[in-house]
Amino acid sequence: MSNQSTYVLGINLSHDGSACLLKDGKIAIAIEKERLTHRKHDGKNDNDAVRYCLEAEKIKFENLTLIVQNQNFSMLNSGSDQFPRGVSRLIGEGCGVPIVTISHHLAHAYNAVGTGPFEEMAILVLDGCGNAYDDVIEKAIDIYPRDVDPDLQHLFFEKDSFYHFREELLTPLVKDFSPGGMNFKDNVLFPPTTKHSIGGLYSAVKEYCFGGTSDEGKLMGLAPYGRADVYKEPIFDLIDGRVFVRYNWMSHFRKPCLSHDQFKKEFQYYADIAQWTQKEIERALVYLVTHRRRLTTSNNLAFTGGVALNAVANAILEKESGFDNIYFTPAAGDNGVAIGCAFYGWCRVLGQRRAPHNGSSCFGRCYSREFIRGILDNFVIPNAEKSRELVPEITTIIAESMQAHSGKRMTIGLNVVDAGIFTLFLDEAGGKIDHSAPIYSDLSLYCSAEQLIRWINSGNHLAVKNREFFDYKGDIHSLMTALNLSEVQRRLRILFETRRICDCIPVTKEPRDLCQYAAKLLVKGKVLGWFQAGSEFGPRALGRRSILADPGRTGLRDFINRNIKFREDFRPFAPSVLYEDVSEYFEYERESPYMIVVARVKPRWAQRLQNVVHCDGSSRIQTVTKEWNGRFYELLRAYKQASGISVLLNTSFNRRGMPIVETPSDAMGFFYECGLDALVIGDFLVEKQSPNRLSCGGRQAVGRKSAVGQPRRQ
Ligand SMILES: [Fe+2]
Repeated sequence: MSNQSTYVLGINLSHDGSACLLKDGKIAIAIEKERLTHRKHDGKNDNDAVRYCLEAEKIKFENLTLIVQNQNFSMLNSGSDQFPRGVSRLIGEGCGVPIVTISHHLAHAYNAVGTGPFEEMAILVLDGCGNAYDDVIEKAIDIYPRDVDPDLQHLFFEKDSFYHFREELLTPLVKDFSPGGMNFKDNVLFPPTTKHSIGGLYSAVKEYCFGGTSDEGKLMGLAPYGRADVYKEPIFDLIDGRVFVRYNWMSHFRKPCLSHDQFKKEFQYYADIAQWTQKEIERALVYLVTHRRRLTTSNNLAFTGGVALNAVANAILEKESGFDNIYFTPAAGDNGVAIGCAFYGWCRVLGQRRAPHNGSSCFGRCYSREFIRGILDNFVIPNAEKSRELVPEITTIIAESMQAHSGKRMTIGLNVVDAGIFTLFLDEAGGKIDHSAPIYSDLSLYCSAEQLIRWINSGNHLAVKNREFFDYKGDIHSLMTALNLSEVQRRLRILFETRRICDCIPVTKEPRDLCQYAAKLLVKGKVLGWFQAGSEFGPRALGRRSILADPGRTGLRDFINRNIKFREDFRPFAPSVLYEDVSEYFEYERESPYMIVVARVKPRWAQRLQNVVHCDGSSRIQTVTKEWNGRFYELLRAYKQASGISVLLNTSFNRRGMPIVETPSDAMGFFYECGLDALVIGDFLVEKQSPNRLSCGGRQAVGRKSAVGQPRRQ
């Protein structure tokens, strides 16, 4: 760390919470909160993400020059409502750093400014809902609607915004607002936020078709199964450069999906709705973008906001928008707001020129070789049944470690879950411990002590069967620091080995030609976890936290869906391809480094790439270059040498409903939970011992069918 460096911290406090740290105008580190708390789309309380950034960069608050933040729906001044009883915000009045609060679409726009490849560009922001009219800190040349009663302005919210960026200056050209918070009981399809919002409508239809809070991308994957001629009524009115949702059709839709069984039974019904919605959104988008195109002479467009994640619509925009070049921001959702806040601070508040960005969208911290080695050396899978008998001894080991390092007396409890990974909970009063109590269901699988403490520290409660259990009020972070995890892991491993309760110890190799070794495994049909350098920032795995496989082997797609991703069969997998070869396999010649545009596969390759081609012949492609993805590029080259093709199936390193893994511990936990064959992590390759040869410290141990009891493919 240099004392001369200028640090700006950007924070997003809405859903998909995140933090981004700029060092002298370049992204030093950035993280989405969900990667740390393991809760999809987690937001608000920013302590975890902020702490992660500062610790990764090894700086303290006094090293920060500026903090810039945004919260959607309402502006945030104190942040006090984000933090439950007993938990205070790290960034508060006492942190001693100036804090600037900006509005939502402006933050989205500055994400494109900071990470975009153009010196001059138009920028379109399109999402579910932005800030209220009264809270917006920018005034555009054209603002719609023009006749809003000043007394009612606070009820109107940002819907879409259009800017021009040139010579370091961002000029708002058009801002469209819509009334927000309206909800008609009879219309289950009504957008949940702003009226007439394209992003809101898409979210509402997604919830109608799937229920719950699943990802928007699922609707895009479902649409090609729908029939084009079932629903023909326009969803949108397109008038004077503005998009309006027609609501008169909504009351006809009264079968929202309430269960997975219902979804399977009514698959065609929901697919038809998805198809209709997708086509209508494409129509509205092309209309909006071509209209805005006429307001600027720019040939470059940056498209951001959650709607910009629609890879199918993006491909159409590339052909029909009239812009020569389009940059689709990889962190287009509200996660990217933190990046935009940071760049606003650098460019606008501090008045600095933006620094060239190298195109990377991977901003997570790097884990050293020694750190990974330590995790691998101490990782064991204890037998769940037998390890329950050791709870008192395990508890003692952890308690002694805490006390030795902190001097604090702390009572702890331990829950050994079925997978054999133990979780830890703390009893602030030092009182009763209920060993048999299952921990909150979100955490009942594969949650390490470290992860759980982070989760508690972010203000969450532990609950047992819907009953609030502990609401820890102390300084968990200092306790976490005091807990010497590697020491605890070392002692636990000795305990497990001594008592002969291990099911499995990882077999770790360090092949000299790691990529060639991995490529050969892939050619044999093995499925690999791939963990390298700092994690991706955004919803797509791009070769840092990926699951990789042969793109064409019959049966592999189903195997991954059922035994690794645990997700629906209809969802497509995506291909990663060497950029120089993309036009060989796909009808596409540009770079697509963020997996955010679809292209058609060339017919002669359709069969060989069957696992990464959707039912309509499209693929959501990632082109790979060595500039910021060196080892993944090297792997694709090695795979091409071994197999003859330079395409791999690349899906995110997680299962359904789980954020992508962040730490080596996360990766190891998930590796042993699912049907992955091997894990490449840094310079190491980890393989599972075959179930009938499981051993512990050279002794035969009690075997399990597999690490997770999943049936193996033949
Ligand atoms: Fe947004």
